[in-house]
Amino acid sequence: MRIDVITLFPQMFESPLRASLLGRAIQRGLIEVGVHDLRRYGVGPHLTVDDVPYGGGAGMVLMAEPIFAAVRAVRSESSHVVLLSPRGARLDHAEVVRLAHHGHIILICGRYEGVDERVALHLADRELSIGDFVLAGGELGALVVIEAVSRLVPGVMGNVASLDTESHSSGLLEHPHYTRPATFEGHSVPDVLLSGNHQAVDSWRREQAAKTTRERRPDLLE
Ligand SMILES: C[S@@+](CC[C@H](N)C(=O)[O-])C[C@H]1O[C@@H](n2cnc3c(N)ncnc32)[C@H](O)[C@@H]1O
Repeated sequence: MRIDVITLFPQMFESPLRASLLGRAIQRGLIEVGVHDLRRYGVGPHLTVDDVPYGGGAGMVLMAEPIFAAVRAVRSESSHVVLLSPRGARLDHAEVVRLAHHGHIILICGRYEGVDERVALHLADRELSIGDFVLAGGELGALVVIEAVSRLVPGVMGNVASLDTESHSSGLLEHPHYTRPATFEGHSVPDVLLSGNHQAVDSWRREQAAKTTRERRPDLLE
């Protein structure tokens, strides 16, 4: 799995790509992430990447030309090009699974008022939003995509079994977890988890997953 990111702020990726699961996965060569500075593909002597919107209005718009050039520099025949955008389809588990099947993803991070529409129309395969709110740029969205997709790459997660029961992968939210001590400030762990009866534990966990989903996200059961 290879992921390339086109961004005006490469420094935003430095620490997240070095830490924890993602950092280890990259170090072990399970995933490769390339972060590319859009400014390098800017036009003219000042390497310009943005301009005022046609028709007027506030703010600047990222120009199509540098983004097309940056994507063309890193794309291959199998690349899947994603534009991060609050106007895109909302990212969910099913979308993450689909993304994980692509060997190569290119993530384009917008900024300012957004991106010249010709990028969405003629370059990107997909526009994705990470939620119904507006961020200052696509970088945090790209990191969300990178982390969610990486967890599905074989070998990245140490404990593969836990992926099957995780929230959203089975269609349900996950059951609750407890760890030591058995009683904390008067609050005890449910007895069944201390019983040593694996069948009873499994059935309690299934019930809890169904109950939590019914209470918190009935839309997932429809
Ligand atoms: C300030 S936003 C532009 C918002 C745009 N004017 C609008 O109202 O739709 C700048 C960039 O941040 C990124 N962005 C903002 N919110 C996002 C979201 N919810 N999901 C994914 N990307 C987002 C996009 O790349 C976008 O081009």
